[in-house]
Order: sequence, then C-alpha cells, then structure tokens
Amino acid sequence: MNNLMVKSDLMEKIVSLCKRRGFVYPSSEIYGGIGGFWDVGPLGVELKKNIKDLWWKAMVYDRDDVYGLDSTIIHHPKVWEASGHATSFTDPLRECKSCHQRFREDKLKSDKCPECGGKLTEVRQFNLMFKTSVGPVEEGGQETYLRPETCQGIFINFGNVVDSCHPKIPFGIAQIGKGFRNEITTGDFIFRDREFEMMELEFFVKPQDDEKWFEYWKDQRMKWHQSLGIKKENLHFFEHPKENLAHYSKRTIDIEYKFPFGWAELEGIANRTDFDLRNHSKFSGRDLSYQNEETGEKYYPYVIEPSVGVERVMLAMLLDSLKEEKERTILSLNPKLAPYKVAVFPLLANKPNLVKKARSVFDELKPVLHTAWDERGNIGKRYYAQDEIGTPWCITVDFQTLEDRTVTIRNRDTTKQIREKIDNLEGWFQNKLENK
Ligand code: GAP
Repeated sequence: MNNLMVKSDLMEKIVSLCKRRGFVYPSSEIYGGIGGFWDVGPLGVELKKNIKDLWWKAMVYDRDDVYGLDSTIIHHPKVWEASGHATSFTDPLRECKSCHQRFREDKLKSDKCPECGGKLTEVRQFNLMFKTSVGPVEEGGQETYLRPETCQGIFINFGNVVDSCHPKIPFGIAQIGKGFRNEITTGDFIFRDREFEMMELEFFVKPQDDEKWFEYWKDQRMKWHQSLGIKKENLHFFEHPKENLAHYSKRTIDIEYKFPFGWAELEGIANRTDFDLRNHSKFSGRDLSYQNEETGEKYYPYVIEPSVGVERVMLAMLLDSLKEEKERTILSLNPKLAPYKVAVFPLLANKPNLVKKARSVFDELKPVLHTAWDERGNIGKRYYAQDEIGTPWCITVDFQTLEDRTVTIRNRDTTKQIREKIDNLEGWFQNKLENK
C-alpha cells in the first residue's frame, strides 16, 4: 500500500473499482441483491480464469503425479453422512429475539444483538449445507445437498481413477468447481460467500509418509501465492490448535493473508488421514483401499489436501496490487493474471488511416492475447483507464507507424515507452509473459 491510502479505505476502493470497471457485481442487484452471492463481470471472469489456469498448471500440467477430475455438484445423500458433514458441518448460531437477525456465536462480542441490542437466543448448531431435492416431485424426492466442498467428489471417484489410470502412490487428484455454504454471516466483500469456487488437491500418500508430504505441500502452496505476486510480508502460516481442528483433520495449517480487516485464511492445508476413504468404504460397501500391484501390499492411503477459494485469491490479488499515485490508480497485477494483456489505441480517433492501422494491429493480437481496444478521449485518459484495470502494456499507433511500421509500447508500472516493430509484437509480448 502507498502513503496516499489508509488501510480502511482500501476495501471500499476495491469494491467500488470492481463494480465500476466490471470485475464483480452484487448478484440479483436489480431485485435488491441477495446476501453472500456475487456475479463476476467481464474483467473479473478473466482474472478468475487466469487464477484457475495458473493453479491447474502448477498442480496438474507441471507434474506427472496429479490427475484432473470434474465431478458433479450434487452427490448421493449418503456421501454427506460418510463424510461427517450431515452431522458436523455446523457453526454455532444465535438469533436476536427482537430483529431476528442471526449471528455466529464465535463472532459475537457480547450477549446482546450487535444490530439492535435485543436479547439473543441460546446457541444452537446450524448446518451450513444447502438442502435440495432431487426428482420431479418435491415430496417423495430424494433430499440431498449442494456440495460444501469439492473433495468428496474426488474421494468417491478414487476407485475409478485408480482402475482407469493405474497411478502409483504418491499421486493426487485435482478439481476446480463450485462450493456452496449457507454462511450465517457473510461480508467483507467476496471473502465469505454462500456460493464460491474452490481449487482442491487430494494427494494420496503412504500413511507413514504423511508428515513429509504435509511439509512439502505447505511449502509449495506458499511459493505459488508468492509467485503470483502477493507480497511476502502479507502472507504467513497459521497452525490450527488441536482442539479446533475440523472433524476429519489430524493437522491443519492455513496460509493467511493480511486483509484490511485482519489476518484471515486464504488457503488451508490439511492432513485428512484416511478418514474419508475409510468412511466411504464403510458407508458404500465398496473397498476404497489401495493395492500396490508389485508388492501386493494393501492399505488406505493418507490424504494431504491443499484447498483454496478462487474468490479469496482474487480478493487478495486485487488488494495487494492496488496503488494510488497523484494522477492515476494502478492495479499492478502480475501480467499473467491481468484481464487484458495489452490495449491498442490509435493516437487520434478522427484520423481514419491511424484507426485503420491500429485496428489491423488489434485484429492480429486479439486471437493470441486478450487485447482491449480504446479510441475514446485523449491518449492520457486511455492510459489511466487501462492502468486502473491492470493492463500491463498499451500500444499506440501514431503517424510514425504509417512510415516505418513501428508502434509505441507503454509500460503500466514505469509509464516508460519504447518503439517496437509491428511484426515483432506477438513474440515480444509472449516473451515478456513467459518471464513473469
Ligand atoms: N475441503 C477442505 C475445505 O473445504 P475449508 O477451509 O473449509 O476446507 C477451503 O475451505 C478454502 O475455501 C478456504 O481456505 C477458503 O479459501 C475457501 N472458502 C471457504 N469458505 C468460503 C466462503 N464462504 N467463501 C469464499 N471462500 C471460502
């Protein structure tokens, strides 16, 4: 953060920028909104896609021991009994007897309603899963839930992946997809949502190797966040005390980010032991143990799980990269994450030969790099408009272009300009992106 901005302003500025420039909109806004749901606009969808692609690259493509999966959002209801979620996926809830607002007991500062000062009910456990009914009639339909985590889809397909791909332990199964949680309190913009996207890896290891792999994934994941450009000083590890561990976990360490409202979970790394595979074996009657084909040895593997929400990474990225200077606001996003990689402008919009030439540059770049076009207002305003959405480079086609087929490339962070031949542009940008 820079000296022109105090911390409390930062979240407000990001929320406003996201709405104004098409990153994130409140969902169902024309009907007054619906708490905990957010729609992702044209720029946000690019940022999210880039985050997911970089996760998939690091977790699947750059390795030879991880397989991808895309399971359904709705599973058989027994999945949630076996996983423990039907009974244990709860938060302590208290309701105000006057205004009927509901609060998480662990977030309350006193015994009174924080909204109206009214009396609160006793604590009860509230299950966070959204119920739904499968089948054409509501009564008599099969009641189940929208998944609150994607990993159960991985566990119930463990046998299928082993049978079809014959992986050797240690190996992982990765999945990206929607998760749903009927959170008691939402807030802090897209930090805690009722619908969100998760990126989860379940890494299956020999039980005796669990601690070694836990350390490995903890380090890998911290490096990944740093490689995207999140400042080191805004990230740290937080180890969950034993008494607060989730019902399936032997050990959990969070990677926390320093959000404007305090340090909070960005990603969780958990040692889930053999809890899930054992329970699904018990509840389904299908043996989900693993057999080493060479030695015949049979066992339930332990699972190390790095699990992270796409929206949380997106929020951390936006907060971490916002800078304000006297004249301009900059999102100094890693170019790999930036919604547009480059913007193309004709120097003057009223000179048809400049517009035509600029358009041909745009048409050439667009299929290979996500490219923006702008011919409104003066050139300075166009640069600032791109700085605010994180576009790393702007190309201007000017009168010299018509003579020597060169354009200016202006750098978002330094504002410095260089000239480059049109014929070299694609290679120039690919080279820059590869080295980021
Ligand atoms: N399978 C493990 C699991 O679900 P979790 O810590 O409950 O663990 C994993 O969630 C990650 O999902 C969190 O680290 C966070 O990034 C994200 N996440 C969880 N609840 C969320 C919510 N309500 N809104 C947005 N992201 C959430």
